[in-house]
Amino acid sequence: MTTLPLPLVPADGVLVPKGVLVRVPRAVAPPVPRRRSRLREIVSGAVERRQERSDAEFVAWFDARQAVDLKVRWRSTVEACNFGRASHNSITGVTRVGMPHVVHAEAPRFDRDGYLIITLPSGLLVSDLEEEREALASGLGVHSVSFVRSGADHVRVDLRRADPLERTVSFPLPAPAGHLAFGLNEAGVVVSRPLDALTHMIMQGSNGSGKSTGAYGLLGQLAGSPYVDVCGIDPTSLLLAPWGDHPRGWRVCGTEDAAARYGAVLADLVADMDARIRTLPPRCDKLPITPETPLRLIVLEEAGAIARLSGYSTSKPSAVQRLLSRLHGEARKASCRVWTLVQRAESGSISTFDRDQAVTRISYAANDVATLRMLHDVGPEHVTELTASPAGTAFMEAPGLPLCRIRSPFLDYATYCDVVSGSIPRPVAA
Ligand SMILES: Nc1ncnc2c1ncn2[C@@H]1O[C@H](COP(=O)(O)OP(=O)(O)O)[C@@H](O)[C@H]1O
Ligand SMILES: [Mg+2]
Repeated sequence: MTTLPLPLVPADGVLVPKGVLVRVPRAVAPPVPRRRSRLREIVSGAVERRQERSDAEFVAWFDARQAVDLKVRWRSTVEACNFGRASHNSITGVTRVGMPHVVHAEAPRFDRDGYLIITLPSGLLVSDLEEEREALASGLGVHSVSFVRSGADHVRVDLRRADPLERTVSFPLPAPAGHLAFGLNEAGVVVSRPLDALTHMIMQGSNGSGKSTGAYGLLGQLAGSPYVDVCGIDPTSLLLAPWGDHPRGWRVCGTEDAAARYGAVLADLVADMDARIRTLPPRCDKLPITPETPLRLIVLEEAGAIARLSGYSTSKPSAVQRLLSRLHGEARKASCRVWTLVQRAESGSISTFDRDQAVTRISYAANDVATLRMLHDVGPEHVTELTASPAGTAFMEAPGLPLCRIRSPFLDYATYCDVVSGSIPRPVAA
């Protein structure tokens, strides 16, 4: 900056009173583009390329180093898990043989998960590795591991840095045409079942674990479908009320006069099932799902409340219990499915017979292993896994789908109401 003598007319043309000092910026010449000589360009390009190469070399060196560390960790962890068996040798002493060895390792990095390819020695099964999942993950310093058989005698061990189900899953999930998407599994794959392969289902989980939201996500996909007729009983009036009145009165909401109304709708549904079975086309033991004969989806929201309100008893089954057992036992041929939402699939809320028929099973967070064992063959570590997970995370199993951990898509109630009532178009999967 320069101080100029006065008087002076500034650039904007205003006369400045005498005796006032004005600071004006020094005139700045427009930048003249510097011509880079050809030699300079060649040299700086070479420097940049060298920098890139040395970065890449560093990353490769770092990866190789991490992979070696990972192999060492794998060996000590499988030893600690007692895989293989001890072999006595007069020269080397006691060594372990039959250990799963690493043939290739990609260590997890800040920007990606890692994996190992290991040998599967004879006598060792993937289920043996599964049993030690927790110990292997903590020994390898990762959040979780999963196993995929690769060829006859190798296994790919996927190493995850963080819980892939930590993030909310948005609705709807992309699923093949004619499929219903249940959620996203730990490998980031959409778990879906074809409509005609749906079975009776139980969803259980403690209060606030995500059952109703899971049901919004499922029923939201069926809104407007001519192939599915959503019926059922909903004491809460939340899940089924947005569907409005059923043309034949087969959606009952609320708790007034519960025993009679619940019994009446189930009696109608059983009569409809019998009629459907009587009219089965010749040489056909299962009614095809068409717009004329849609899949009857009988949703029982809060089945514990339905049981209590309708006089459930294990010694003297109520009318509602008897009708539900008929639906569970015979409805498959008539293309009817019962979906039960209950806090705990115990024999005080659902009969053992009905529970056994419901072969699609979803368990959201439960407080004890006994609850999970109502539906799945699991251990106490599974309870911790669920309770430590965010709402909407569940274990699911179905015919052709071994037990897996999923996160249901999140559809808030207001949007569910809009989607079901048709006031907004059903969202399309991204
Ligand atoms: N899949 C999900 N993703 C994100 N948040 C969820 C999910 N499911 C449930 N929640 C959260 O948990 C709360 C309780 O869920 P809700 O379905 O009402 O549980 P439940 O029916 O088992 O009592 C919801 O209001 C929502 O905030
Ligand atoms: Mg609920």
